[in-house]
Amino acid sequence: MDTRSPLSTALTTEEKASLTSGENFWETQALDRVGVPSIYLTDGPHGVRKQRDGGDHLGIGDSVPATCFPPAVALGSTWDPDLLDTVGRALGDEAKAEGVGVLLGPGINIKRSPLCGRNFEYLSEDPILSGRLGAALVAGLQARGIGASLKHFAANNQETDRLRVSADIDARPLHEIYLRGFRHVVRHAHPWTVMCSYNRINGVYTSENRWLLTDVLRGEWGFDGLVVSDWGAVSNRVAALTAGLDLEMPSTDGVTDARIVAAVESGKLEQSVLDTAADRVLALVEKVRSNLDPAAYYDRDAHHALARKVAGRSIVLLKNDGVLPLDPAANASIAVIGEFARTPRYQGAGSSQIVPTRLDNALDEIRSLAAPAQVTFAPGYSIGESDSAAEPLIVDAVSIAASADVAVVFAGLPAEDESEGFDREHLELPSAHTELLEAVLAVNPRVVVVLSNGGVVRLSGWADRAPAIVEGWLLGQAGGGAVADVLFGAVNPSARLAETIPVRLADTPAFLDFPGEAGHVRYGEGLFVGYRYYDRRETEVSFPFGHGLSYTTFGYSAPTVTLTDAGLDVEVTVANTGHRDGREVVQVYVGVPGSAAVRPVRELKGFANVEIPAGASRTVRIPIPFEDLAYFDAVLSKWVVEGGDYRVWVGASSRDLRGDAVVTVDGDAPLPELTAESTIGEWLAHPVGGEILGAALARTAGAGMLHDPALLRMAASMPLNRVAAFPGSPISTEQLDSYVRQAARPPRVITEQARGGGS
Ligand code: BGC
Repeated sequence: MDTRSPLSTALTTEEKASLTSGENFWETQALDRVGVPSIYLTDGPHGVRKQRDGGDHLGIGDSVPATCFPPAVALGSTWDPDLLDTVGRALGDEAKAEGVGVLLGPGINIKRSPLCGRNFEYLSEDPILSGRLGAALVAGLQARGIGASLKHFAANNQETDRLRVSADIDARPLHEIYLRGFRHVVRHAHPWTVMCSYNRINGVYTSENRWLLTDVLRGEWGFDGLVVSDWGAVSNRVAALTAGLDLEMPSTDGVTDARIVAAVESGKLEQSVLDTAADRVLALVEKVRSNLDPAAYYDRDAHHALARKVAGRSIVLLKNDGVLPLDPAANASIAVIGEFARTPRYQGAGSSQIVPTRLDNALDEIRSLAAPAQVTFAPGYSIGESDSAAEPLIVDAVSIAASADVAVVFAGLPAEDESEGFDREHLELPSAHTELLEAVLAVNPRVVVVLSNGGVVRLSGWADRAPAIVEGWLLGQAGGGAVADVLFGAVNPSARLAETIPVRLADTPAFLDFPGEAGHVRYGEGLFVGYRYYDRRETEVSFPFGHGLSYTTFGYSAPTVTLTDAGLDVEVTVANTGHRDGREVVQVYVGVPGSAAVRPVRELKGFANVEIPAGASRTVRIPIPFEDLAYFDAVLSKWVVEGGDYRVWVGASSRDLRGDAVVTVDGDAPLPELTAESTIGEWLAHPVGGEILGAALARTAGAGMLHDPALLRMAASMPLNRVAAFPGSPISTEQLDSYVRQAARPPRVITEQARGGGS
């Protein structure tokens, strides 16, 4: 059956080539002759950055005003897919009102190192969390008829040398950590487009990586949308098209189009490859065109209010000795300290930078929630000035702190420390901020620290002396109001860390392997990214993955875990044992203590975000599909559910586990294939091979070995063919060949389809 679009069969090779690259920076190529319009793609991800007249890429500040929702670092901390679906819908409404057909986001790359300059644009260090939240954003956006561009596919985990570096990753971490979230989003939310990243993976540019763009993305995951390049990611357009890249962006003014035409004419590129890509562009254009609505508009005030609500849900209360929430009726005097209270840092730099429709600041919002006369302010430091200018500002700040009932100190990272395009060099707050903090801590026992930072900062050293710490990330244009809401308890904090806050940089998993050298970065920590590393190493952290406090408290019942046809069902009852309504994020971690595979101690496999009125209880059911229990068997090159006892914990963070249960899973791991090169140990451990070799040895002089544990242990690592070659060996080479034939059994891998569900 011919599945070609009737339109594309009418196009010339030149037209198809031009259709598969941009017309300018943001639009696809229109083909007036056949009535194909261009469509508009633009950033993304936490707002619509539509440049005023399709202008140059680098005019980052010159875009039409749009709601600056909280960036991904904040959204990730909500742990709330429903809320992110709502954000996606609002983004869709704004994109539609601006005539944008595809919004370039979300970015779901794993936060491998806290030094990645673009971590503020990513959701988490965990693939299950990134996948769930990314899918919700895509689903919400696309529910409004606007395409998502899931990015940056894949393994774009640093900015250093990002356009060339090869991320050298073993098969298991590549699948289990770096691709898993993408797989979930593709399978469950069906993004219209996927954006390939700039970097190479194991030596091959992702834009030219057929294994990634075609075998995995389309073949294994069933992706049926369009693959677009990151802007300028294509190094060889012919190779890229062949690998499965459909659309090169932005335009190259026809230079690479001509190469495509020449390659088709010389037979170097199959016509059908170009046809397929052209069809995919046409399909996307049609999808976008049929959803355009010139009358579309959005309500700026309503979106600002949504941005405030989401920001409130993104703020992580790291620590609270009881000083929070502040009581607006208590008539207490509040010293607000720190320039960030008046001049907020609310988003990161680079292609995601939005021109906001409005901008709230925390100082005004605190004044409007407390009686204004109660609030004093001192900037404490100035933005963009050297630390040495700070001393007089600190003196002023200390004087208002000393006479106030409570001091709220705003500190954080300066904008120039974190951006797309380069990585951070350290995790430190500016010394002007830490000196200010120390000075205020010395004069007032009731200090609340509010942080503004896109990537995690080191808190050790002062955190244990600060009575309360509020992690405010970068919260978008309404973040100031949201901070005030949390400080005064109008919002009961419910966000949780989507990434670990380490004690120091040297403790972090990629410390020795970031950002690599000579064009390569080796992911030497393997599977042990984020909490997987700290837990396995039993390393102390400042605040663990999943952590976040509330103004109420929650109690957990013992969990029950049931095996179903689709996976595990975890059920637990959570009670709000305090006096305020609140939200709890119930987290499920799974470990396989007796696993034959290398494994983290426990991994997040599911979660539920649940609102519980004071004094009430809610029973939550968290299903964990087999697909999420599977690990990637690098020898078989397949996902496998290992048989055995699975330990399932429920908890309020990765280190606040409240109960657990063990369930036996009948896995689908196939019997390993035995060859002449398999070791004595592998033969004896194999249910079929063990019988064959055991019986063979029992008949020979090798029988003694079977009853001598020390000898057996020593011999276990010897490949059988080496033993067979020894003079006087009890096993001949011919016998070994026959044993290999007898031991061969068809593998018994249960397919993912048969298992159902999953990520
Ligand atoms: C970024 C992408 C962005 C694109 C278009 C690139 O530099 O990596 O995330 O969508 O530019 O602005």
